[in-house]
Amino acid sequence: MAQNDPVRIGILYSETGVTSTIGQSQLQGALLAIDEINAEGGLDGRELVAVRYDPASTPALYAELAERLIVRDHINVIFGCYMSSSRKAVIPVVEKWNKLLFYPTLYEGFEFSGNVIYTGAAPNQNSVQLADFMTSNFGARVYLIGSDYIYPYESNRIMGELVMQQPGSEMLGEHYLPLDATESHYRAIMADIRSKQPDFIFSTVVGDSTASLYRAYADAGFNPKTMPIASLTTSEAEIAQMGHDVAKGHFTAAPYFQSIESPLNARCLARLRQRFGDDCHPNLCWEAAYFQVHLFANAFRQAGTDSISELLPYLLGSEFDAPQGRVRLDPGNHHTWLYPRVGRANAQGGFTIVRQATRAVSPDPYLVTHSLGDWTAKLDTLET
Ligand code: ACM
Repeated sequence: MAQNDPVRIGILYSETGVTSTIGQSQLQGALLAIDEINAEGGLDGRELVAVRYDPASTPALYAELAERLIVRDHINVIFGCYMSSSRKAVIPVVEKWNKLLFYPTLYEGFEFSGNVIYTGAAPNQNSVQLADFMTSNFGARVYLIGSDYIYPYESNRIMGELVMQQPGSEMLGEHYLPLDATESHYRAIMADIRSKQPDFIFSTVVGDSTASLYRAYADAGFNPKTMPIASLTTSEAEIAQMGHDVAKGHFTAAPYFQSIESPLNARCLARLRQRFGDDCHPNLCWEAAYFQVHLFANAFRQAGTDSISELLPYLLGSEFDAPQGRVRLDPGNHHTWLYPRVGRANAQGGFTIVRQATRAVSPDPYLVTHSLGDWTAKLDTLET
């Protein structure tokens, strides 16, 4: 490669299919970071260029396109994936060719690949805090609903274990529905929920069917003040699909919400809207998709190459001032130090942050310890 050739990176975010709402936002996050990097002179004068395909929310297509990026397009670093099933499909490909995947999504943990950088939350950075918040404010009788694939099964298992440590805990139901489930699928579950009266519902539903779940809940006439839905995946993007009234009062734990009050977040959101217009819905996966490209660019500037063995020493341990706060890549486990937060959906389609960590929490993907971080309580906004 000549010293002034563009640096090409692979992008695999779903622009179509059941998780395309999040996929589009992840793509916007990556493209915004690429724009910023190029506006500041690129990578030491070299333009950063995205080579991008649409895996259409289909794990097998993710694997096929990852292989195409590596073999045909000679790409060394891929940014992509939302569902854990898609990450699980891509990992054997990047491991076979010894390339690098940056994965910007919360997931179920219990995984390590030396060929992956994980920038979304591990369970000790979202599940632990959500379990703590929900059980102390609502109770420990929980009802689990998820989409039918690996993340919901594993995330529900973890939530179950966390809730079962609390007094009076009870697991009242556990259901898995297809990724294209409609409101009528959820209606039968609402009848069961009405008879069991849990303290809260934990949803690991993802993608388009998230709106169907929350609509079925609203149609059943349930009250989020007494029996809310708690989630790690219902973001501003899914709320835009279901409608603000439908989402209002439900809870999500995530390191990033649009409502984070910082000049840096405000500037970043303004640049996003300047580039993509007002009809975009930045969320936790958008933010990680954004900052991980900057982490890569900073490491590349030092390494002078994107070959994995030369890049990793500069990447691991590196830090970046992200919209959520200063994040850091943990050199021991390739996951990221993040800021746990709990938000309650408000009437404006965003989240009112009701609790947040005052410091970044180290990633513990195997849940060896259950660190909560230092919470700041903003519970004055919570009327339960
Ligand atoms: C997910 O499947 N990691 C949301």
